[in-house]
Amino acid sequence: MSNDPLLQPYQLKHLTLKNRIMITSHEPAYPEDGMPKDRYRAYHVERAKAGVALTMTAGSASVSRDSPPVFNNVLAWKDEVVGWMSKLAQECHDEGCAVMIQLTHLGRRTRWDKGDWLPVISPGYEREPAHRAFPKKMEDWDIARVIEDYAEAAERMQAAGLDGIELEAYGHLMDQFWSPLTNDLEAPYGGDLDNRLRFGFDVLRAIRKRCGEEFIVGVRYTGDECLPGGTGREEGLAISHKLKDSGLVDFLNVVRGHIDTDPGLTDLIPIQGMAGAPHLDFAGEIRAATNFPTFHAAKIPDVATARHAIASGKLDMVGMTRAHMADPHLVRKLTQGREDDIRPCVGANYCLDRIYQGGMALCLHNPSTGREIEMPHAIAKAETPKRVTIVGAGPAGMEAARVAAERGHAVTVFEAADQPGGQIRLTALQERRREMSSIIAWRFEQCEKRGVSFRFNAFADEADVLDTAPDEVIIATGGLPHTEVLTGGNDLVVSAWDILSGDVKPGQNVLVYDDAGDHAGLQAADVISATGARVEIVTPDRAFAPEVMAMNLVPYMRALQTRDTTFTVTWRLRSVSRDGNQLRAVLGSDYGDVTRERQVDQVVVNHGTRPLDELYFALKPLSRNLGEVDYEALSTGVAQSVERNPGGGFRLFRIGDAVAARNTHAAIYDALRITRDL
Ligand SMILES: Cc1cc2nc3c(=O)[nH]c(=O)nc-3n(C[C@H](O)[C@H](O)[C@H](O)COP(=O)(O)O)c2cc1C
Ligand code: SF4
Repeated sequence: MSNDPLLQPYQLKHLTLKNRIMITSHEPAYPEDGMPKDRYRAYHVERAKAGVALTMTAGSASVSRDSPPVFNNVLAWKDEVVGWMSKLAQECHDEGCAVMIQLTHLGRRTRWDKGDWLPVISPGYEREPAHRAFPKKMEDWDIARVIEDYAEAAERMQAAGLDGIELEAYGHLMDQFWSPLTNDLEAPYGGDLDNRLRFGFDVLRAIRKRCGEEFIVGVRYTGDECLPGGTGREEGLAISHKLKDSGLVDFLNVVRGHIDTDPGLTDLIPIQGMAGAPHLDFAGEIRAATNFPTFHAAKIPDVATARHAIASGKLDMVGMTRAHMADPHLVRKLTQGREDDIRPCVGANYCLDRIYQGGMALCLHNPSTGREIEMPHAIAKAETPKRVTIVGAGPAGMEAARVAAERGHAVTVFEAADQPGGQIRLTALQERRREMSSIIAWRFEQCEKRGVSFRFNAFADEADVLDTAPDEVIIATGGLPHTEVLTGGNDLVVSAWDILSGDVKPGQNVLVYDDAGDHAGLQAADVISATGARVEIVTPDRAFAPEVMAMNLVPYMRALQTRDTTFTVTWRLRSVSRDGNQLRAVLGSDYGDVTRERQVDQVVVNHGTRPLDELYFALKPLSRNLGEVDYEALSTGVAQSVERNPGGGFRLFRIGDAVAARNTHAAIYDALRITRDL
């Protein structure tokens, strides 16, 4: 047996967890009709099969009708949930993985215009900035009703055969009672700490009454809200002791901070560029003080840090949640001594940011996550090895190379630059986004292990491709910035890429015109303003950087606001002209016939890319499929079979931004879908 601390079993009451790695609760927004159906189950079973010891399902499964599913949460208040959860639990149990679920009432952390349009509730009138709903202050009958709802939901989960439950108490109803910032009630549910905790303990007692002493019940709670006037460190420690001493709870799952604002949420669940494992010591202190089973997760994406968390005795179970979204087979690779093969979580937070926009959680660089059924993680070996030639080593080309090599094909990759990476290489030049480079580095290592032949500094033309005598050709040449969007003065502007690459030095007084609204615009503004320059970001949209979602925006704002960057929305850059040694920028508006002028010394335009597609069109007439893709087959995970030109020597596919400007996930998904069946 391995002596790796991470792979030692852990005894939680009567339950033996086979190792120390867990997936903490997270709502991937996969439910259908509020139920954890096939997609949901397949997601958890994939990870159970690979060896994770405990999966805490759902995130914030809703115990009451007036806790509307703002993240498409599981509706634990419906009886039909029992059948679905029972199936999920059974299939995970078959793989030796324990299954629990997080139950909650969101309180004010939701919206009244979801679900049944019931008023949201809270023990006070304070609105949560993130969801903007003004809550109804709870009455006695609300309190009694919700306590019973918790107990009934717990009973349903017990009936479904789950190993236990966890109650959410950070930013949700339970700790809205705990925190003086959100609880305006009088005794017995408001006032001093014991009164504020009364609701939580009433819930726990009601659950014990229904589910008995044996059923495992834990609480995931904030041990320090890190907010003036909120539940502080000392109160957090007192709460920890009270939870333990109550005898009602079997484990503590500790977080630190608050989630009512985007910056608060981002400090609690740090993203790329932020410190790793920032709350591990804090969780360890609670464990040391209480000597009670302690779980914790927050940016512990790598095995070494996870191992340290367990070996040092800071935690009993370490959460590696996004790490498992990026690589569901993490534990299997660890047990097989293949740590190097683990696809790294790069903290891009595409997963989490998407659910705040009503989408389902997707991993930026693992498109099979959440698509376990139609786009399985495992790549099958091809029956007949082929010669596959790929042009371009950005994210799309590198994914195509990795997958084709896993299929057992002989793969050649041409790349014009002296190293792989494409747009990711540019993005990752900024220290804060350095982790993005692992998207490429991991693929490069996987390709090298499988003998992919890379030809760098090679701007491939038609003849170069034909020289490789390919069976399949994949064009992943990406795009180039398109800045010619003005009625005059297009020659006077530079692109965001010019700034990011360092090809153009930042000016002193700069207008960044961003109507792509993605990372490149904000990143350029960040880089320019860091030099001390004055920056104004102008966009025709009604919000700036709409493609940079909530948590990803936080580090930009922290940098840009301190540098006094100006944000100007709903204005469109019309033209630029010379004005002495300055530039005159004329702004117009889609809303009316109005103009404004700015005098600056540099104009940066971010307007996406246009495809680099010459090679594709040169090869198209020589190909068997004339470049055509069967979208039905592509979308349903079926092999391509279009044949238009029987005399053609190879099939030709175009992927990523070489087709149209999109994002990294789209590029990698294109590559996987085309290549996995070649
Ligand atoms: C898509 C997504 C949804 C999440 N939803 C919840 C949730 O509903 N309840 C919860 O307690 N934590 C939720 N989390 C937070 C995770 O449980 C975990 O604390 C966080 O991802 C940090 O751990 P990690 O760095 O290992 O990913 C969510 C995380 C993700 C990625
Ligand atoms: S999207 Fe980013 S943060 Fe989320 S799992 Fe994937 S790599 Fe990790």
